[in-house]
Amino acid sequence: MIYLDNASTTYPKPGRVAAAMQAYLTQSGVSPGRGGYAAAVSAERMLADVRRRLTQLVRGDEPTRMIFAANGTDALNLAIHGVLRAGDHVVTTALEHNSVSRPLETLRRRGMITLTRVGFGADGVIDPGEIARAITPQTRLVALNHASNVTGAIQPAREVGAITARHDVLFLLDAAQTIGVIDIDISAWRVDLLAFPAHKELLGPPGVGALFVGPEVDIVPVRQGGTGGDSADPLQPPDWPSRLESGTPNTVGIAGLAAALHGLEPLKTLATVRACMAHFLDGVAEVPGIHRVGTAPVDRCVGTASVIIDGIGVEEAGAILDESFDIAVRAGLHCAPYAHRQYGTFPDGTIRVSPGPFTTPREIDAAVAAFRAIAEEVRN
Ligand SMILES: Cc1ncc(COP(=O)(O)O)c(C=O)c1O
Repeated sequence: MIYLDNASTTYPKPGRVAAAMQAYLTQSGVSPGRGGYAAAVSAERMLADVRRRLTQLVRGDEPTRMIFAANGTDALNLAIHGVLRAGDHVVTTALEHNSVSRPLETLRRRGMITLTRVGFGADGVIDPGEIARAITPQTRLVALNHASNVTGAIQPAREVGAITARHDVLFLLDAAQTIGVIDIDISAWRVDLLAFPAHKELLGPPGVGALFVGPEVDIVPVRQGGTGGDSADPLQPPDWPSRLESGTPNTVGIAGLAAALHGLEPLKTLATVRACMAHFLDGVAEVPGIHRVGTAPVDRCVGTASVIIDGIGVEEAGAILDESFDIAVRAGLHCAPYAHRQYGTFPDGTIRVSPGPFTTPREIDAAVAAFRAIAEEVRN
């Protein structure tokens, strides 16, 4: 299989990830516990070490505020439901994934919040000025997708952070598509809440995500439960990370993430996926009937792009790529319906191509040839 769906999840994972998960399961495998027996203390240390490394990676300064979650969606829900109160106004964008749009729309329909969704420019990039103009005295939160999972276009997070800081509004950045390839600096960019999964360009396994909660954020726990300590307290303990973490964590997944972080090479990965993307887009640009959706230059995108082919539905083209060429791409709306509405590609969507750190130029050659063959077949 030629795997070009790395925007969904990176595959394959480095061998060290599976090895670390197997080792954790077979050689320690216990639940972390504060002040417990040695193996439990060692599991707790492993979690603390991963929190520290993730916090360093995004230039934060308080690792206990790096909260483990089940995936990117879970981390975003912890943030959105944790900070919003009745009467709040939220500014978001047409680029958001449903993991942001749906919780916000749910709260809006319950009558709890009001919502402004700003659009993007022809290049697929939002204008920070529009965000600033949408902020009202009731605005508590601005939620921004750091890079579109439809077009790959990277968004001006630093500029938006300067605006939210000036207006004393919380800034939630969804780094699902950027962490592990783009240098994120939550301190300089004034990000209050950073949510991301482990299973994309961090190269970790599925089942782990994280939410970093900045020091100024007033957040309530969406979940309450056992934290391994403070068991006499009838309520969730106020200390970090227990304040937002309950229940047995995915220690096996976090052990895999620890191994993934060990050899992470974001710059190398970014160079690889951009080279693949440029190669693919140059190749299909010459083919009549194939159109790219989104115009941001490759050097302002992560390794994701969307195309459509005249005369054939995206689902059908995706099925032909799979069945006749053994090429895995994602066809449809990519959980980002508002982006497709603005591009005019709703409700069918696009064919999304997303190389990963292990994609080779030969695989891209094969993908270009397959797209060309489909477009020619439709034409004739
Ligand atoms: C931009 C964006 N946000 C959030 C998510 C949700 O992440 P997860 O699938 O880990 O819940 C994704 C996943 O595709 C995404 O692309």
